[in-house]
Amino acid sequence: MRAIVCPAFGAPLEVRDISAPVLMPGQVRIDVAAAGVNFADTLLISGKYQEKVAPPLVPGMELAGTVAELGEGVEGLKVGDRVMAVVTGGAFAEQAVANHTDVVRLPDRLDFVDAAGFPVAYGTSHLGLIAKAGLKAGETLVVHGAAGGVGLTAVEIGAALGATVIATAGGADKVAVARGHGAHHGIDYKAEDIRDKVKALTEGRGADVVYDPVGGAVFDASLRAVAPDGRILVIGFASGTVPQIPANILLVKNVTVIGYWWGAYRKLNPALVQSSLAECVGWWAEGKLKPHVSQTLPLEQASAALDLLKSRAATGKVVLTV
Ligand SMILES: NC(=O)c1ccc[n+]([C@@H]2O[C@H](COP(=O)([O-])OP(=O)(O)OC[C@H]3O[C@@H](n4cnc5c(N)ncnc54)[C@H](OP(=O)(O)O)[C@@H]3O)[C@@H](O)[C@H]2O)c1
Repeated sequence: MRAIVCPAFGAPLEVRDISAPVLMPGQVRIDVAAAGVNFADTLLISGKYQEKVAPPLVPGMELAGTVAELGEGVEGLKVGDRVMAVVTGGAFAEQAVANHTDVVRLPDRLDFVDAAGFPVAYGTSHLGLIAKAGLKAGETLVVHGAAGGVGLTAVEIGAALGATVIATAGGADKVAVARGHGAHHGIDYKAEDIRDKVKALTEGRGADVVYDPVGGAVFDASLRAVAPDGRILVIGFASGTVPQIPANILLVKNVTVIGYWWGAYRKLNPALVQSSLAECVGWWAEGKLKPHVSQTLPLEQASAALDLLKSRAATGKVVLTV
């Protein structure tokens, strides 16, 4: 099969013909139609991701396509089913195998391109905002990197939960994308001070919950912009800087910082991930969630697709088609 291969950490990606992956019991072989591109792929191929895969490796953590073969013991799916799936690498290829607990059947109207970028971003934000941060209707949610892959889904899910959503992003165009997906207010952090604007929008109180996939200076601003007794959900460090947290501020303000890695729940609590994704698909069917794919590229251009994320030129998701 044709696949994108990372031959060594940090080396250029190659398009190669390789053997299809071996199907183990409990797994599902999928003919990949489209694969979602994640910031984490840039970390995986440079050896900086928290879950290590030894090179040569095929990147790609989510995909949509058609079930081609079922491993021993898999029930509830059949060959030909349209599905989306999450994998630990391997999606940037003509075929991938996924654990059956990471495979979700698609509703007819959800197309492969939208579905390919669906599970990681919506799954992360839905479980994170509900199960981890306990976001409630009427609360104020600040979402950083709000036009990015996970950020935009946090905006939509926050709004669907009845929160007042303040979106922050680098540039007026990106703020406009977040406003178009349900954010009630926007902050362009290239031009405006996050803390001052959040305080102004919350009558001086600050935000109840902050969703932070960016880290660095943006996280520091979150500590100032969060309300007393508020929660900060640590999603990621797209800025490249892992925040060092001054515990005195947490103590004085009664702030809770919540570490959160959605991928870990695929093993820790697969039933929770499945019910969360099922609710996301239900909300999509009700029109509450509107996947946004800014660029679609052919599989062979995986490297260019990853560059779009690194250069901050994408909004929502970038998807590779096979
Ligand atoms: N905890 C979890 O379970 C989980 C799940 C999924 C993703 N993540 C993490 O969340 C982060 C975002 O992932 P994603 O796939 O949504 O990425 P993405 O689509 O590329 O979005 C990242 C956003 O971060 C902002 N950003 C700030 N500084 C940046 C920089 N130096 N380079 C690139 N972007 C920068 C950009 O927004 P502006 O241009 O507006 O600043 C961009 O829209 C990553 O760190 C990823 O590993 C964590």
